[in-house]
Amino acid sequence: WPFYAPLIFEINRLKREKNAVILAHNYQTPQIYYGVADIVGDSLQLAVEATKVEADIIVQCGVHFMAETSKLLNPSKTVLIPDSRAGCSLASSITAEDVLAMKAQYPGVPVVTYVNSSAAVKAVTDVCCTSSNALAIVEAVDSDTVIMIPDQYLAQNTAKKTKKKIITWAGACEVHETFTADDIAELRAAYPGAKIIAHPECPPEVIDATDFAGSTAAMIDWVKTEKPAKVVMVTECSMSDNVAAETEGVSFLRGCNICPHMKRINLENILWSLHTMTEEVIVPEELIAPARASVEKMIEMSV
Ligand code: 13P
Ligand code: SF4
Repeated sequence: WPFYAPLIFEINRLKREKNAVILAHNYQTPQIYYGVADIVGDSLQLAVEATKVEADIIVQCGVHFMAETSKLLNPSKTVLIPDSRAGCSLASSITAEDVLAMKAQYPGVPVVTYVNSSAAVKAVTDVCCTSSNALAIVEAVDSDTVIMIPDQYLAQNTAKKTKKKIITWAGACEVHETFTADDIAELRAAYPGAKIIAHPECPPEVIDATDFAGSTAAMIDWVKTEKPAKVVMVTECSMSDNVAAETEGVSFLRGCNICPHMKRINLENILWSLHTMTEEVIVPEELIAPARASVEKMIEMSV
């Protein structure tokens, strides 16, 4: 913290001077999460909060698709991302052309797209979903068969909870796909009595072996509510750091991976971003209305 203090001070000063707001995902480091963020949350919470922003500038501390979502919901505002290389293996696994080919293969079948996708993919989508509302959206869509893209594991985990037929795409999160059922067995042997919770981007055999699975916000709520003596959060490593700061009496044991994309964002480039007003997120004009419609439909269906 002593090293962070001058950066945090200057970022917060510039935020006030420029009428900017910082939206940060739950995977951001504690110095961002607690030091400079105005709003923190999972993908759904950040999208919902983005609809309410009154500031002129949004600095998105997260990955590029999250910044694009904020821009879609605030086309007239300036949306900045401190490092535009902060991508996502799910978003880069599928193109709009791939989606159009699936639609041609399965005519009339609605497309439910995980928000971890580009604006171009969202623009050819019927409705978006996040890890916190995936099942509810699939159930609410007026069809017994649904195309659910691009995360094969979120789709498979959702398919286990619904009677609907789900057509999947072969995308995966590079951070969560590497966890195995053997890893969970090893964690149980190493940490007897610890609760093990995971994100639904993990393969189904991992989810089956855990005590709870949910979005990043749902995992935080679960720990705060259940207050287990020991817990392993099978997800991105900053999650445990952030929740630990707010949860007394819970031991957080390591069983996490780092998302290299989320970790591209740091205090130095947030300050640079605000100072120079770079890198601005631009969504092509023709994509804004159709991509925004699929995000707004999700938000309407989630409340
Ligand atoms: P959440 O919507 O659960 O925050 O997940 C976003 C994400 O990228 C997880 O890897
Ligand atoms: Fe994408 Fe996975 Fe990183 Fe989330 S953790 S941003 S899904 S690569």
